[in-house]
Amino acid sequence: MMTCTVLRCCGVIFLTHLFFSRTVAKEFPTLDHIRTKVDDGTQQRTVEDMIFRTVGDRFSDFSVTVDSSFMPSGKEAFQLDTVDGKIVVRGTTGVAAAHGFNHYLKYYARCQVSWTVQQVDLPGVLPPVSPAVTIVTSNRYRYYQNVCTVSYSFVWWDWPRWERHLDWMALSGINLPLAFNGQEAIWQRVYLSLGFTQKDWDEHFSGPAFLAWARMGNIRGWGGPLPPSWHQTQLALQHRILARMRNFGMIPVLPGFAGHVPAAITSLYPKAAVSRLQWGRFKDPYCCTYLLDPQDPLFSHIGGMFISEMIKEFNGTNHIYNADTFNEMRPKSSDPSYLTKSGAAVFAGMLAGDPQAIWLMQGWLFVSDRDFWQPAQTKALLQSVPQGKMVVLDLFGEVEPVYNTTDSFYGQPFIWCMLHNFGGNLGMYGTVHTVNQGSFLARKYLGSTMVGTGLTPEGIDQNYVMYELMNEVAWMPQPVQIMDNWAADYAWSRYGVKNANASLGWQILLRSVYDCEKGFKDHCDSVVVKRPQLHKTQRSWYKPEDVFSAWDHFVSASNDLGLVDSFRYDLVDITRQALQEWAYMNYQDLMETYNTGDLNKFRDAAGVFQQTLTDMDRILATHQNFLLGRWIEDAKSLATNDQERSLYEFNARNQVTLWGPNGEIVDYANKQWSGLVADYYSERWALMIKTLTTALMEGKKFNHTAFQQDVFQQVEKPFTLANKTYPYYPTGDTLQIAKELHQRYRRRTW
Ligand SMILES: *[C@@H]1O[C@H](CO)[C@@H](O)[C@H](O)[C@H]1NC(C)=O
Ligand SMILES: *[C@@H]1O[C@H](CO)[C@@H](O)[C@H](O)[C@H]1NC(C)=O
Ligand SMILES: *[C@@H]1O[C@H](CO)[C@@H](O)[C@H](O)[C@H]1NC(C)=O
Ligand SMILES: *[C@@H]1O[C@H](CO)[C@@H](O)[C@H](O)[C@H]1NC(C)=O
Ligand SMILES: *[C@@H]1O[C@H](CO)[C@@H](O)[C@H](O)[C@H]1NC(C)=O
Repeated sequence: MMTCTVLRCCGVIFLTHLFFSRTVAKEFPTLDHIRTKVDDGTQQRTVEDMIFRTVGDRFSDFSVTVDSSFMPSGKEAFQLDTVDGKIVVRGTTGVAAAHGFNHYLKYYARCQVSWTVQQVDLPGVLPPVSPAVTIVTSNRYRYYQNVCTVSYSFVWWDWPRWERHLDWMALSGINLPLAFNGQEAIWQRVYLSLGFTQKDWDEHFSGPAFLAWARMGNIRGWGGPLPPSWHQTQLALQHRILARMRNFGMIPVLPGFAGHVPAAITSLYPKAAVSRLQWGRFKDPYCCTYLLDPQDPLFSHIGGMFISEMIKEFNGTNHIYNADTFNEMRPKSSDPSYLTKSGAAVFAGMLAGDPQAIWLMQGWLFVSDRDFWQPAQTKALLQSVPQGKMVVLDLFGEVEPVYNTTDSFYGQPFIWCMLHNFGGNLGMYGTVHTVNQGSFLARKYLGSTMVGTGLTPEGIDQNYVMYELMNEVAWMPQPVQIMDNWAADYAWSRYGVKNANASLGWQILLRSVYDCEKGFKDHCDSVVVKRPQLHKTQRSWYKPEDVFSAWDHFVSASNDLGLVDSFRYDLVDITRQALQEWAYMNYQDLMETYNTGDLNKFRDAAGVFQQTLTDMDRILATHQNFLLGRWIEDAKSLATNDQERSLYEFNARNQVTLWGPNGEIVDYANKQWSGLVADYYSERWALMIKTLTTALMEGKKFNHTAFQQDVFQQVEKPFTLANKTYPYYPTGDTLQIAKELHQRYRRRTW
């Protein structure tokens, strides 16, 4: 420890001299072709159309110019001005202009466009921008998506939903998004020409809700096979998505070949060198995927075929490809030369299809298995390709950054990312402090090779505030100085009206539940959503009273803001969070009464606990974004026949509950949604309470193993196979129910 510190200090003193004249992070000319190829006029028209979709007729109050020569201090920028009563937006790219328009919406017109709720009630006369404002970004790339986001959040989307989301990306200033749809259709062609049969790839691809993990070689076949109509739909979507991304001036990242192949490789190419990788608790036949040996000449052959086929299908490329060979899976050897060869093979595969390829790699493996990825192993993989030909995502930058333990990824360019979310869980959580400061520290790091910032959530549609903050930080010259002011601005734009109670509510939340100091890999471990057990402790980095007091303020604001949809969304969310706190307190009572063995008191406590879950389902039912019915019906709507319909429904249900045939990662992607709370979480608790009641009555001990088997057989598995229809539209009035619950729960103990 001591030695390290001293060496570090010496390094700093010595290196400061060398790096002193460098004022900005290192630039990488190797990346100069990773930029938009679309002309300014097309980007401008694409932004104009987006403005029309966003504000309708009022689009004529805005005038947009995209001008690639507009580069104040050599950086991407936007400028806002008022000329003849019109708001004039100028941007280096379509994305910069769209982000400038969004900046105007938030900070002048007091509007907010976010994932599923938006508030774009423009003032009759638009407030002028005077004097003109120019904002530049030091972040050459603003990356977006985790490889899992497509499965946890986008999987059932149709084009209208995608179109809105692409608008959101542009408004958010994102210029480097993943574009992963439809890749299985391309793989099918490649496998066909290599001699594989439909049966071979049917066993290899997973079902729609699990594609992310099949692509990474974590699992194979689970939830499949993919019907032909799936490929057609996804291919058609990908054409539209790519065209729109490119026309906005974004640089879509396409998939590359990471080495995972169908099992039939062993019979079809008996000489091929393969190994198998283990992921989590998955077993045959869903594990383990075959990994082609990097030294096998087939590796770059397949990699090249895939890239070529994709370029042909999607009319060109922006030359950047993602591939993750060892995501959450230990390589078969820790010998650095093996790792170097593996990396070189992945890159050779890309080059075989595109001589200008750049490899984008998630740096998650370095976080998830630090024991394996010691400096020698990390360096071997990172330096397996020439400097500047790989871009690494420092995926969990806000909690466990890797750049500062690897001399800035041993010289490879990296993007500092906020991961924030796992499994699309809904609990309130954030690390405001490190999200605000982290990317600036990374840029200032000695010899920093940082080339941008990013968002890498596993799932979206939760904790909107953290994403708004990060998107703004990417365009700021320094961190937000006074977070309370930012919170007040956030509330004002989100609801369109200045309201002191709403501001206070957000200020409390940002200082408390959103300011988790340490950050966690699993932040939503509420007793509500986890499989019932005795004496479970819940992680808490904040005082539940903070949530209740914020809840008071939101309820107070509801008289003024009750008609605003984004406010209703937030009122549901804070009520949900408050009830989650209550559930934990009630759970503790339940455990206490169980321990004392007083059956009557236990029954009373059980009644209170179950009532809280019922109340939670009721408030969630009042807003469309908290409905299980949306998730399932959207899944079914992509089906073209009954068989597909039940396959998609099963995929949708299994992902958010058992996650695997036997609950391999049960509850990982838990969601506090109406329908799921009532028919899954509550039902599990009903069984637990019944079991505990019997134990008390018969004077027996609770058998956890037996309960796990029972809950799996009686509740969890049947739920994944069921086909009950859940409402697609909300029921009940948010305001009235939130007020009623607030009355009831707040009066009880305070
Ligand atoms: C393909 O891309 C080129 C420019 O790279 C463009 O001119 C052409 O219109 C595109 N074709 C299609 C079908 O999108
Ligand atoms: C790296 O940076 C993070 C965030 O600033 C910090 O918590 C951590 O201690 C640093 N690690 C090292 C080895 O300096
Ligand atoms: C918040 O709402 C309460 C109850 O409606 C009201 O009495 C109070 O004045 C409000 N607080 C502020 C700061 O506006
Ligand atoms: C608990 O249940 C399991 C599974 O039913 C059983 O094998 C085990 O013997 C039980 N343990 C006790 C202590 O009864
Ligand atoms: C729902 O499941 C039941 C029982 O398994 C079955 O009889 C029924 O046909 C299913 N309904 C639909 C619409 O699939």
